[in-house]
Amino acid sequence: MTKTTAVPSNVPNPVEQRVADLLARMTLTEKVGQMRQVNASEGHPPDYLAALIRAGSVGAVINQADVHVINELQRLAVEESRLGIPLLVGRDVIHGFRTIFPIPLGQAATWNPELVREGARVAALEAAAAGINWTFAPMIDIARDPRWGRIAESFGEDVFLTAALAVAMVEGLQGDDLSSPGSIAACAKHFAGYGAVESGCDYATTNIPENQLRNVYLPPFKAAVEVGVATLMTSFSDIDGVPGTANAFLLRQILRNEWGFPGVVVSDWDSVHQLQIHGLTENDGESAFEAVTAGVDMEMAGDVYANHLAALVESGRIAIGMIDAAVANVLRTKFQLGLFEHPYVEPAAHPSPGSEHALLAAKRMAAQSVVMLKNDSRTLPLSIQQLSSVAIIGPLADAPYEQLGTWIFDGDVALSVTPLEAIRTLLGDAVEVRHLRAMENSRSRETEAFNEAVEAAHACDVAILFLGEESILSGEAHSRADIHLPGDQAKLVQRIRETGTPVVAVIMAGRPLTLANIVDDVDALLFAWHPGTMAGPAIADLLFGRESPSGKLPVSFPRMVGQVPIYYSHKNSGKPPSPDNIVHIDDIDTFAEQTSVGMTSFHLDAGYTPLFAFGHGLSYAEFEYDHIRTGAHTVSIGDAVTISAELTNKSDIAADEVAQLYVRDLAGSVTRPIRQLAGFQRLRLEPGQTVTVAFRLHTDDLAFYGRDQNLAAEPGEFHAWIGGSSETELRTEFRIVASG
Ligand code: NOJ
Repeated sequence: MTKTTAVPSNVPNPVEQRVADLLARMTLTEKVGQMRQVNASEGHPPDYLAALIRAGSVGAVINQADVHVINELQRLAVEESRLGIPLLVGRDVIHGFRTIFPIPLGQAATWNPELVREGARVAALEAAAAGINWTFAPMIDIARDPRWGRIAESFGEDVFLTAALAVAMVEGLQGDDLSSPGSIAACAKHFAGYGAVESGCDYATTNIPENQLRNVYLPPFKAAVEVGVATLMTSFSDIDGVPGTANAFLLRQILRNEWGFPGVVVSDWDSVHQLQIHGLTENDGESAFEAVTAGVDMEMAGDVYANHLAALVESGRIAIGMIDAAVANVLRTKFQLGLFEHPYVEPAAHPSPGSEHALLAAKRMAAQSVVMLKNDSRTLPLSIQQLSSVAIIGPLADAPYEQLGTWIFDGDVALSVTPLEAIRTLLGDAVEVRHLRAMENSRSRETEAFNEAVEAAHACDVAILFLGEESILSGEAHSRADIHLPGDQAKLVQRIRETGTPVVAVIMAGRPLTLANIVDDVDALLFAWHPGTMAGPAIADLLFGRESPSGKLPVSFPRMVGQVPIYYSHKNSGKPPSPDNIVHIDDIDTFAEQTSVGMTSFHLDAGYTPLFAFGHGLSYAEFEYDHIRTGAHTVSIGDAVTISAELTNKSDIAADEVAQLYVRDLAGSVTRPIRQLAGFQRLRLEPGQTVTVAFRLHTDDLAFYGRDQNLAAEPGEFHAWIGGSSETELRTEFRIVASG
């Protein structure tokens, strides 16, 4: 993995020498060209684009995925431009290229960095075979608002989990070395705070105090930078009044000065021009000035840089040194990718898309991403031997496109295996399968077809409902204010419930939904996100017990949308709620006085807990945690402490469990979260097996940005918990003391 460590100035660095040599030979037009990315979505390169490339006026293209067109674009750059500088070829390869893996939020539910790395590797290989050398992933915006459509693209609400998966995805995409075959440049996005858009409405304003920014929103980016992410994208939204694309505090002070990022900063689509629309500038010339001085090296899909940078340099407003530094970042990345040596793609050198390996990896990840939220009376797993008929009902049982989720430009729908197909294959002739779609799509309010579905459910041994959201309901610019199951799906659930037949619901969606209105009407509930190409086989294996569910929620599920943002690692407040000091609105006396209820931090109608907590996820096995202990009761700053517990599989089936470590710093120079994830391990336990789960915590792992905005561990008392969700009560304590 490429590290960001600066090369000592006395050691010759071939890449830096080549960058300097090239820069010295470039005209201002050619330099500005390297800072420009052009939308090349048309098929054969149009004349204007060919002319721009020949003139050295394009550094990168986006949205071309045809290997022949890409090779032609590279040929124009390499053979017909004066300096022969190859192009960066960017594409949104977000959760797979041809083979689609679960949406990133589903990937996060696996709590399995190995699988995320492997999925990214498959995606990179498939994309590289098409000539793509740069993707705009991972998206590592902390997302605590399920109304936001882009929560689907995120790894959820947690800092530690997001950082771990950010590293895994960058490693998978970039491989051991950016220049090795099948490696593509990753892009950590969106810098920064985009997940905090007001009311979950995409592109809206964010307001994040610096301390929260540093402790919550930035650490995943820092982790990505430390592991060598090649590029970074700015956020569309404004933060504290300054849009990401003009934010020198973020891009210069933090990213370059504090973290030493040597890669490329690219704007988001047209976001340089949008500085004017935000009301930050009066015209494009000023927008170019703001973006370049803030530290944006390349403009995505716009022509503001192309139209204005040269004039800004010639008028003396921008020093040529600033342009040179930006261009050097772009050239450095191209050298690191090995593009000068290998600008063209030999498709035969890479595995074919949808290979057996890719499909297996996609199935494995889909299976581990499914979270079992409820399983009353051991309804699941279903036993093939004990069933004679199954009713498969709902708009998402057989929807090959919808199961893929958002951002699947190049996904091959023909590869999709739907749950209906997979269940039919698994059950063969042994069990009768009746399929009733019941609703045209998830949003439908047409209930006429319910009757037939109800009849089928009545006649069958079990009803499996495939509900949720189509892919169009989440993703960029697809936010919702109401996050119930859309349309009349809840009514469908009630009608099926009334048959008395056991009801299993499998929900596919791009976000957490408010499920309080259906959860009591189902016996078992699997939350499958959008699982991708191999949704069917993965879900069929889980339903019929060939695999135990092992996913855990990467984000809290609110009872009501009014609780949003609701996340486990909140602050305590001065008036924390507890079960004995809250009251429900329905229980208030008719003539109650103002002061007679509560006086703690809760909602009268929703309480203070989520419907399903972060980290929650059931298994067919039964896991028990016990005997938590610390290796030492005090730890000096600079040392480490081990926290461990015994984990036993008390069932007679082998299954995976994700053991989670949470910590709380009881008093800090700034208030600290009531719990924070500080470690996790996915473990396979055989029936009856007991293992010791141990986490080693260095005091650096407990460091946070304090009142002075410096990163440090502070002496004091800590609590630590180990368990299978953020609600675990198995606790121990230790104390950090000053060293020496
Ligand atoms: C806009 C999105 O915000 C960004 O995430 C994406 O990579 C670019 N468009 C390119 O499609």
